[in-house]
Amino acid sequence: MPRDISNIVILTGAGISAESGVATFRGPDGLWEGHRVEDVATPEAFAHDPDLVQAFYDARRAKLKTVEPNAAHRALAKLDAQWPGELLLVTQNVDDLHERAGSERLLHMHGELGSAWCLGCDARSPFDGLMAEGPACPVCRQPGQLRPDIVWFGEMPYEMERIERALARCDLFVSIGTSGAVYPAAGFVQTARYHGARTLEMNLNPSEGSFHFHESRMGRAGELVPGWVEDLLRENADERT
Ligand code: APR
Repeated sequence: MPRDISNIVILTGAGISAESGVATFRGPDGLWEGHRVEDVATPEAFAHDPDLVQAFYDARRAKLKTVEPNAAHRALAKLDAQWPGELLLVTQNVDDLHERAGSERLLHMHGELGSAWCLGCDARSPFDGLMAEGPACPVCRQPGQLRPDIVWFGEMPYEMERIERALARCDLFVSIGTSGAVYPAAGFVQTARYHGARTLEMNLNPSEGSFHFHESRMGRAGELVPGWVEDLLRENADERT
C-alpha cells in the first residue's frame, strides 16, 4: 500500500479501547455503562443533574487506573515512532491509552478524562481525582467550578482546524473502532477522499459510513491493527531500498 504514501491521518474510536476493558458508547443495549448517552453527555444533562454527571465521569476516570493499552494502541505508537512522514492520530476517546502506549502525534478531539475545565476562570488543567467532591481549581482556587473537559453533544470538538488541514494533506486515512455515528468525525473519510486520499476502515462490523471507504477490514482492532502496521512499515522500508 505505501506507494506514494507519505502523510497519514488515523481516526480512532471506542472500539480500539474495547479489548482493554473500556466500555464502548453504543453497546448492544444502546446504553453507555447503564445510562442513555443524552443523560450524561450533554450540557443540558450537566445543568439538570451535575452530581449524576460528575459521578459518572469520576467512575470512568477511576476505571482508567484498572486498564492497560492493548496491542492496537501499542502498534499505533510504534507506527508513530517509526513513520518518517507526517502522521496525526485523532482520537475521539477520552481515555489516555494512546499516550500510555507511547503515541505522541496525537490529539483528543472530544477532550480527556484527565483534564478539568474551570467554569470560573476558563482554565484547563490536568486532573486526577473526584470532581463530584467539588475540588478547587488549581489555577483560580475557586472550589466547585470544575467540569469534565469532555466535548459533549452540542459542543464544538477540539482542534478542528488542525484536523481539517491534516485531512487535506493526507495520502492515507484510516478509521479504527468507531461506529461512524457522530459528526464531524464521521465525515472525515469524505473529506480525506475529496482531497485524494486512500481510505481504510478497521472495525468489528461495518460502520454507518462503511461504503465511503476504499477498503474495509472487519475484526478486532487488537488483531487487525498490528498486522496492518507491520505491513505498512515493511513496505515503506522496501520502497526506500
Ligand atoms: N475492535 C474493533 N472495533 C470494535 C471492537 C474491537 N475490539 N469492539 C467494538 N468495536 C466497534 C463497534 O462495532 C462500534 O462500531 O467500535 C465501534 C464503537 O462505536 P461507538 O461505541 O459508537 O464509539 P465511537 O464511534 O467512538 O463514538 C463516537 O460518540 O458518544 C460519543 O463522544 C462520544 O467519542 C464518542 C463518539
